[in-house]
Amino acid sequence: MSDNNLFDKIVSHAKEYGFVFPSSEIYGGLAAVYDYGQNGAELRNNLRQFWYLSMTRLNQNIVGLDSAIFMHPKVWKASGHVDGFNDPMIDNKDSKKRYRADVLIEDHQEKIRQKIQKEIEKAAKRFGETFDAEMYKSTNPRVMEYQQKIDEMDSILKEGLESGNLNLIKELIENEGIVCPISGSKNWTDVRQFNLMYSTQMNALEGGEEALYLRPETAQGIFVNYLNVQKTGRMKLPFGIAQTGKAFRNEIVARQFIMRMKEFEQMEMQFFCKPGTELEWYNYWKQARMKWHLALGTPQNKYRFHDHVKLAHYANAAVDIEFAFPFGFKEVEGIHSRTDFDLGRHEEFSGKKLRYFDPETNESFIPYVVETSIGLDRLFLLTLAQAFTEEQVDGDTRTVLKLHPAIAPVKCAILPLVKKDGLPELAEKIYNDLRFDFNVFIEDKDSIGKRYRRMDAIGTPFCITVDHDSITGNDVTIRYRDSMQQERVSIDRLSEILHKETDMSALLKQL
Ligand code: GAP
Repeated sequence: MSDNNLFDKIVSHAKEYGFVFPSSEIYGGLAAVYDYGQNGAELRNNLRQFWYLSMTRLNQNIVGLDSAIFMHPKVWKASGHVDGFNDPMIDNKDSKKRYRADVLIEDHQEKIRQKIQKEIEKAAKRFGETFDAEMYKSTNPRVMEYQQKIDEMDSILKEGLESGNLNLIKELIENEGIVCPISGSKNWTDVRQFNLMYSTQMNALEGGEEALYLRPETAQGIFVNYLNVQKTGRMKLPFGIAQTGKAFRNEIVARQFIMRMKEFEQMEMQFFCKPGTELEWYNYWKQARMKWHLALGTPQNKYRFHDHVKLAHYANAAVDIEFAFPFGFKEVEGIHSRTDFDLGRHEEFSGKKLRYFDPETNESFIPYVVETSIGLDRLFLLTLAQAFTEEQVDGDTRTVLKLHPAIAPVKCAILPLVKKDGLPELAEKIYNDLRFDFNVFIEDKDSIGKRYRRMDAIGTPFCITVDHDSITGNDVTIRYRDSMQQERVSIDRLSEILHKETDMSALLKQL
């Protein structure tokens, strides 16, 4: 169910509390480009670190990489991006707005899915405890009709994209009566393909040289380094290479805040394995990645798998992990079984052998690859959306980000009750002791209640209040963000408490 009001609140909260700012805002901003503020940068770093450590530290056979954004132009010919990295776009002649044709269709399908959901909810109320949702979905004529409609749309979309007959997609949009969300009209242009890569030149002088592209995915940096890492790391199959980094796409339709950006960050892992074992590894990574998401505390019902309708010609399995954003279920991560396509193409285009010699069988072959690919910015938005909570407390609304303590931007705020009697000095001493291990914050302005609320709004899991008794008793009050309960603890125990609750290892141990 979409909730625009909630989404708007999250976007303004992100700006008001230093998480996300529009890029170059003083010049009016830049469409679909964003900057991360003081709290956003911390949260983003923590999410990235959780991903990177879960890949490289928890798996003996996965290593890291940090490849350059610029790559040889031939890389993108080999990968198929020069010829095939297109989006099918359609314009509405009245609003002059441009849309991704497949997204218009997917949004329309989502509305039909919501109708199915409503039917199920109504029936569940009618039938009570004996209700069997699966049985109902496979026997109720109206629900079956809705599902059939969705399936038919899937197959037309797939046929249109695979055959390149974009008229099929235009006809589908027209036949389904899909209207422009801005003008409300059905006055559509033809569907056309647009390439998504940004190009530039290596040298200042234009002309004469091949275009250099800003990488549209980090994965190709891994493929072209496959042999370097395999040889220098003496890696044996199966093994993985993981990297995080910026990617750039000329997304013509920028939508939903940091959901679809022109400059964004990916966290990708290519898992190289023996041909014939790839589907086993695909299923392994599908489950492993879902477990990773759930470790952050998000309930299972907020996630779902969505098998790709249109498999790329080189893939033999592909699934998206989708999250229930306030605007509906949308992709956060993709898991793709890409066969030997990428390494095979790089072998062909570079003329260099990219084979693996298997000492057990004395055979050389191109490994198969299973990839996991998640957008850090989408994960960031998911995390904000999941954590954002409004609660009624003493007749007032408390806005709190219920972030997992290990990813919270600030772990602990140290708050002297008053600005005198030695309390600021003691607070400063506690701050200085803790700052080597934790991102701590100290503040003595405003009432303690106001300071608590500001910390709630950025998701700080612990607030420590230093009062007059702290001087004599060497203890402080610790307040827990979610329960708002308070407890008296010895200053000597603070580091131990914070380590236990906020260390990244607490998260990693769940995997
Ligand atoms: N190497 C495979 C690949 O790039 P993808 O599905 O195009 O696959 C992977 O991208 C992930 O990158 C997506 O699931 C999404 O989280 C993120 N992503 C893709 N395009 C994005 C954009 N324009 N803005 C933000 N995140 C994006």
